[in-house]
Amino acid sequence: MIVANWKCNGSKAMIDAWFNTYIKDSEESNGVFIGIAPPTIYIERVANIAKKNSLQIKTGSQDVDISSGARTGAISIEMILDNNCYFSIIGHSERRELFNENNNDIRQKIIKTMDKTLPILCVGETLADNKKNLTKDILREQLEVIDNLEFKNELVIAYEPVWAIGSGLTPDPKDINEIHKFIKDVVQSITNNSANPSVLYGGSVNSANATSFFSEEYVDGALVGGAALDGSSFAEIVNLYNGIKQQ
Ligand code: 13P
Repeated sequence: MIVANWKCNGSKAMIDAWFNTYIKDSEESNGVFIGIAPPTIYIERVANIAKKNSLQIKTGSQDVDISSGARTGAISIEMILDNNCYFSIIGHSERRELFNENNNDIRQKIIKTMDKTLPILCVGETLADNKKNLTKDILREQLEVIDNLEFKNELVIAYEPVWAIGSGLTPDPKDINEIHKFIKDVVQSITNNSANPSVLYGGSVNSANATSFFSEEYVDGALVGGAALDGSSFAEIVNLYNGIKQQ
């Protein structure tokens, strides 16, 4: 599973150029989940271009609000479903940091979406936590947002160390593998139906380092930011994934 998080980037012209290069360089073939979370205002444009070109790409939202109604600027789950979204990213560290989202908000968002769309819950420690060897404690605390929930549909967790996002730094692939196994174990032990999530790695993934992550047993894909803004480099990451984890 490879998902692009375009964050607050892009324009109509960028999207058209993106697809031109993606279509040229991608070897889409075997049912691997390929997703793009564009800025909300461009979701429909991306979905339409993907459909017109018979691409496997599925669209998703970068966030979702807890309800509809008098909440200026918010996007509800009903609107997301109305716009061909297959997944929603929830609890990204930028939402936590810049928009003051806490674990309680994130739990409400998960509850609101879990039976309707595919939630991609983001977790990750800061550099200070990492240096103090608190990574697993922090992740366990962040995963408590799904404590006692029952996931009838799929659940995806994205492990995104805050210090690896946009920095060019990444943990050692072996350490990522160990953390992913830990995340899977915690999720299984705290959810009512022992949910078995896919775990994506996110944080400075690019076409030069992707193979080192995809070669690890418990890495089920990637959530890609900067390198996903270029159709050609995103295609290359998808191709590498296809080559290593053919389903
Ligand atoms: P970068 O790939 O730019 O580090 O961003 C990762 C990310 O935050 C994806 O959600």
